[in-house]
Amino acid sequence: MSLVFPHTFVPWFRSVAPYIHAHRSKTFVVAIAGELIAAGKLNTFAQDLALIHAMGIKVVLVHGFRPQVEEQLKAKGHVSQYSHGMRVTDAIALDCAQEAAGQLRYEIEAAFSQGLPNTPMAGSQIRVVSGNFITAKPVGVIDGVDFQHTGLVRKIDAIGIRRAVDFGALVMLSPFGFSPTGEAFNLSMEDVAASAAISLQADKLIYVTEVKGIPLDITDPGSAIDQELALADAEKLLAALPNPQQPTDTAFYLQHAVKASRNGVVRVHIIPFSVDGSVLMESFTHDGVGTMIVDEKLESLREATADDIGGVLQLIVPFENDGTLVKRDRTEIERDIDFYTVIEHDGVIFGCAALYPYPEKHTGEMAALTVSPEVQGQGDGERILKRIEQRARAMGLKSVFVLTTRTMHWFIKRGFEQVSPEWLPEARQRKYNWDRRSQVLVKTLA
Ligand SMILES: CC(C)(COP(=O)(O)OP(=O)(O)OC[C@H]1O[C@@H](n2cnc3c(N)ncnc32)[C@H](O)[C@@H]1OP(=O)(O)O)[C@@H](O)C(=O)NCCC(=O)NCCS
Repeated sequence: MSLVFPHTFVPWFRSVAPYIHAHRSKTFVVAIAGELIAAGKLNTFAQDLALIHAMGIKVVLVHGFRPQVEEQLKAKGHVSQYSHGMRVTDAIALDCAQEAAGQLRYEIEAAFSQGLPNTPMAGSQIRVVSGNFITAKPVGVIDGVDFQHTGLVRKIDAIGIRRAVDFGALVMLSPFGFSPTGEAFNLSMEDVAASAAISLQADKLIYVTEVKGIPLDITDPGSAIDQELALADAEKLLAALPNPQQPTDTAFYLQHAVKASRNGVVRVHIIPFSVDGSVLMESFTHDGVGTMIVDEKLESLREATADDIGGVLQLIVPFENDGTLVKRDRTEIERDIDFYTVIEHDGVIFGCAALYPYPEKHTGEMAALTVSPEVQGQGDGERILKRIEQRARAMGLKSVFVLTTRTMHWFIKRGFEQVSPEWLPEARQRKYNWDRRSQVLVKTLA
């Protein structure tokens, strides 16, 4: 008996396809809290990351080790000290951190070496590369607190990391760095990940953490999670922190996320490891599971460029196949791509429409209006329509018209009125398909 159900599997797999295409050859820096490993989730996480890697994404993995260092300190009867969101690393804590980092490297390498038949890692071959990619500098003394061997990232060897990932390796960074004098410094995973993402100009920085994401009210961890946060709003949240010098764990993540976003990392995600497969859900579904911070309004509505041809086709072809939209050939879309407006979310095209002007009749045709079934009913159709109307006005047109067989009511609700096909501009009438018997609807632009 087969356990694969084609009617659910095939549409599901196809729905993931736009993300696979969009993320291919991109660079993701993925940072995991030491708590994830302490919670026994390393193996499943490694399987998910191996899958991401297998899809042609370049992966840099950064691990944290706070609970592991705590454990070592406890075994030595030593008390940890924290200030300003960072550990104060004395000589004993430095020893513990080195031991913990060494141990974790082995565990992570082992996790990526799994390959038993009938497991998600069967057939995977991942080369994990680590090394002295980070130059560090001491934190020094802040507000009278001497941080001793606690450091900050001074420089990342982006060229070295790039070479390794370009050869297909997964680069692993531990929160350790060395100064030019050879002194070792204990760094924070958040700082290493943000610095690496900035210097690599990564497409994504993903923190997989013990927190669920960024709550709408950052001072109240119980409040709902903000799924999308524009950089400007994230900066406002930080500015409103009651005590930014002593950040909570959530605020410390947010401080680093904002730093990365401000410095050119396109998307920064803070997601919980407590949700199984969270890194897959955040990367391959529209809504994701945690908070994503972007330096722009997330769903950007913009004019299309040649790079969008693939995305537009992917969106409209299913509607052409079921007869909702009239078939257009690829060369026509390539030729007319400048007429298109698209809505993009996380690199994937979710909506589009084209505007073909007929200046002789001061009108224009809105064609191929489509919103992906995954996100219909959220107002995107209307946003695209408004944008098309704006474009039409800017061209000096007095109306827009559509030809539709199934969506008449949607347009009527938005101010369109039915007219006879004879109303169409002459050039358009000649192309009118009388067999299809599309209804013609016009909206006069105010
Ligand atoms: C028509 C379409 C673009 C609307 O996109 P959308 O993002 O879902 O639109 P909005 O969120 O702005 O509007 C959703 C509303 O439209 C309604 N709607 C969706 N399709 C409709 C249809 N065929 N007829 C009438 N109303 C429709 C929804 O029920 C919803 O109503 P509500 O707000 O009262 O709940 C989208 O459904 C689509 O892509 N359809 C397939 C392609 C198509 O028909 N294109 C038009 C070609 S001419």
